[in-house]
Amino acid sequence: MIRSGILTALLATSLAAADNITATVNLAVTKGSPEHLASGFIYGIPDTPNFIPDHWYTDMGFRYGRAGGAQLEAPNRGWIWGLKEYKGRLASTLSNYDTSRKYGADFIILPHDIWGTDHANSSTVWPGDNGDWTNYDLFIRTLMADLKANHALEGLVWDIWNEPDLTAFWVRSQQQWLDLEDKDFDKVQISGPTLAGSPQTDNSWWTNWLSQVAGNKTIPDQYAYHLEGSSTDYYDDLQNTNVTLSAMLKTYKLPSRQVNINEYANFAEQIPAGAAWWISRLERYNTLGLRGNWQSLCVLHDLFANLLTKVVDPTVCTETDYASAPEYQVYKYYNLNMTGERANTTGTGDRLMDVYATIDKDKVRILCGVRITEGTWQITVDNMSAVGLPKSGTIDIQTWGFAGTDVWEEVDSYSDRGIVSHTYSGNTLTFPIYQTDTSTAWAFEFAR
Ligand SMILES: *[C@@H]1O[C@H](CO)[C@@H](O)[C@H](O)[C@H]1NC(C)=O
Ligand SMILES: *[C@@H]1O[C@H](CO)[C@@H](O)[C@H](O)[C@H]1NC(C)=O
Ligand SMILES: *[C@@H]1O[C@H](CO)[C@@H](O)[C@H](O)[C@H]1NC(C)=O
Ligand SMILES: *[C@@H]1O[C@H](CO)[C@@H](O)[C@H](O)[C@H]1NC(C)=O
Ligand SMILES: *[C@@H]1O[C@H](CO)[C@@H](O)[C@H](O)[C@H]1NC(C)=O
Ligand SMILES: *[C@@H]1O[C@H](CO)[C@@H](O)[C@H](O)[C@H]1NC(C)=O
Ligand SMILES: *[C@@H]1O[C@H](CO)[C@@H](O)[C@H](O)[C@H]1NC(C)=O
Repeated sequence: MIRSGILTALLATSLAAADNITATVNLAVTKGSPEHLASGFIYGIPDTPNFIPDHWYTDMGFRYGRAGGAQLEAPNRGWIWGLKEYKGRLASTLSNYDTSRKYGADFIILPHDIWGTDHANSSTVWPGDNGDWTNYDLFIRTLMADLKANHALEGLVWDIWNEPDLTAFWVRSQQQWLDLEDKDFDKVQISGPTLAGSPQTDNSWWTNWLSQVAGNKTIPDQYAYHLEGSSTDYYDDLQNTNVTLSAMLKTYKLPSRQVNINEYANFAEQIPAGAAWWISRLERYNTLGLRGNWQSLCVLHDLFANLLTKVVDPTVCTETDYASAPEYQVYKYYNLNMTGERANTTGTGDRLMDVYATIDKDKVRILCGVRITEGTWQITVDNMSAVGLPKSGTIDIQTWGFAGTDVWEEVDSYSDRGIVSHTYSGNTLTFPIYQTDTSTAWAFEFAR
């Protein structure tokens, strides 16, 4: 929300020194074209082809899928239940792969789900049990051959094993998991370690993995991990884990690679303010991201990880009355409207508010979100003259609001929150953000 120019000036003066509350956009430094790095989600695609109309995929710029037939019941419980039960999970995976490719999205395959970890326990077979890798090798060979036969290798990323640091997905020793890395994956792209825990020097899952991968030169094409823990934890923030991972790669003399946070945001953060905050973070660090999916059973395979809802009952998977959930509007604006070049930005020092900005021929656009908290912050736009504007003067800022507090709610559009004139000088524009709820995201636009 923006108030008058006078208030803006007062606020800017009184808070100028406190960079805890200032996010910046530098119009003189650009970072290449938008590639909507954050427009991925895990599961969320029905196994029936074309069940969700095209425009829902294309408007949000669907960029990355990730699936493996999880939570299907008998007779589709996965490899450990025999070839027939493997086939059902394979079919689900191939269908989701084809849907992803139809919209130009890449696809991360989840072998742990095709294996069947959601129907496994400590008594069932795990890869490499008793030092015997025969079963797992056969699994990989079979799956690779099936993927090849179904023309499903292009745009495919093989995610070695999901969240082995959680007992839901791995019940054997850490070393037995580490030894998964040394299998021959037949030249598809590989991602790992895909840990639930973020990269920190006291996390042995990370350090032992980095050490073994460096020792055996089994370096993946993407470094993947998850950020969907606490909204306040220092290490549940890409701004901090970008630094720790970079340092750890250096320690183990490992090269840099594309990073993919292939599950991001906790469930409470899946509202517009949270979406805009995550998009800003992922874009700043040139990091790919896929939304975490907090649903289960058939709803897991529907609703784009809660970007969609349904008019009558979103939990009825056979119904097709799809509608936009609150966050969908943020991704739609991010994809369709934030065109041109990305501008360099910084988030607020308190890590609670962040911005993503683009410069196109007609306008500068700034998306802004908080990490689900209230407060007062400000946005400073430096180097106004870099887009052909005078170094001082008055500028009209159009505000759009992205409302909604609940993933099941239908919100069909963002809304016009008016135009306010702001005066600025010294080539720098500053305006306040009065965040009086924890959920609304904002977009600000001005002509150049
Ligand atoms: C910024 O926030 C930190 C942590 O909350 C606090 O220690 C520091 O004093 C704040 N700085 C200013 C200038 O307000
Ligand atoms: C493990 O799973 C098998 C197969 O479903 C089942 O028979 C067995 O009771 C389970 N064991 C434990 C300890 O849960
Ligand atoms: C290479 O991998 C093997 C088996 O997975 C492991 O035992 C060994 O420690 C690794 N080598 C290095 C140098 O890390
Ligand atoms: C850290 O962020 C920079 C961009 O600022 C990016 O190029 C780099 O790949 C990131 N590194 C890691 C390890 O995430
Ligand atoms: C965003 O882009 C779409 C598609 O071009 C357009 O219809 C819509 O009016 C734009 N929204 C704004 C706020 O400019
Ligand atoms: C660009 O953004 C990065 C990350 O926020 C920041 O560290 C750097 O100082 C910025 N550089 C310029 C020239 O704006
Ligand atoms: C942009 O603005 C900043 C802050 O006013 C200034 O330090 C910098 O020199 C300007 N130019 C560029 C190219 O970043």
